Amino acid sequence: MVEKVTLTIDNVKVEVPKDYTILEAAREIGIDIPTLCYLKDINEIGACRMCLVEIEGARNLQASCVHPVSEGMVVRTNTKKVREARKANLELILSNHHRDCLACFRNGNCELQTLAENLNVKNVEFEGEIKKKTIDDLSHSIVRDPNKCILCGRCVAVCSKVQGIGVLSFTNRGFDTEVAPAFDKSMADAPCIYCGQCINVCPVAALREKTDIERVWDAIEDPNKHVIVQTAPAVRAA
Ligand code: FES
Repeated sequence: MVEKVTLTIDNVKVEVPKDYTILEAAREIGIDIPTLCYLKDINEIGACRMCLVEIEGARNLQASCVHPVSEGMVVRTNTKKVREARKANLELILSNHHRDCLACFRNGNCELQTLAENLNVKNVEFEGEIKKKTIDDLSHSIVRDPNKCILCGRCVAVCSKVQGIGVLSFTNRGFDTEVAPAFDKSMADAPCIYCGQCINVCPVAALREKTDIERVWDAIEDPNKHVIVQTAPAVRAA
């Protein structure tokens, strides 16, 4: 039999298995906690700190996606302190993100943009160096833009744990940290199988599919390059 614990989240009592995280327990009772780096069972690394919550008796706010539940725990997910901390974290992420939203492929379908709207982030107060890295568009399928990467690690996890390929990983350290194939290789030179799972889980436009127009330009520039151009299905005569 599964051992259970009872805790209180936003004044609602909930009984959940002992191995649940606070985030999982909150979702059981329909409480929405924002997440960014979290992918259930695949990427649970507590990197982005968007899911911070207040736990009675704890000194600091905790990342609910990795914090286990315990008997009698009292959690608050929507206090002023929590909202301000999430907002500050989001601004820090945005401060080093190329915010050309209007020209971005993911405009209107970007998790970072949605979070900024939900948390009412209009301006980014933090100023400083912004990364300027080379966009890797050498492969025939995938474009990798490190300037938009928020280092959530979702693509790294899905590439290694789900697909078992391990092409993408964290490279360099500190401000220079990047998600890329090892030894700064292009996606075109890495053993990528172009399954597209990294694109599926990317919350922003750091990884995206190459458009047909870009593929045509590739073919014009280098006719020997392997180019896949999708064409509309042939229309059959009746
Ligand atoms: Fe919990 Fe990113 S979702 S730290």
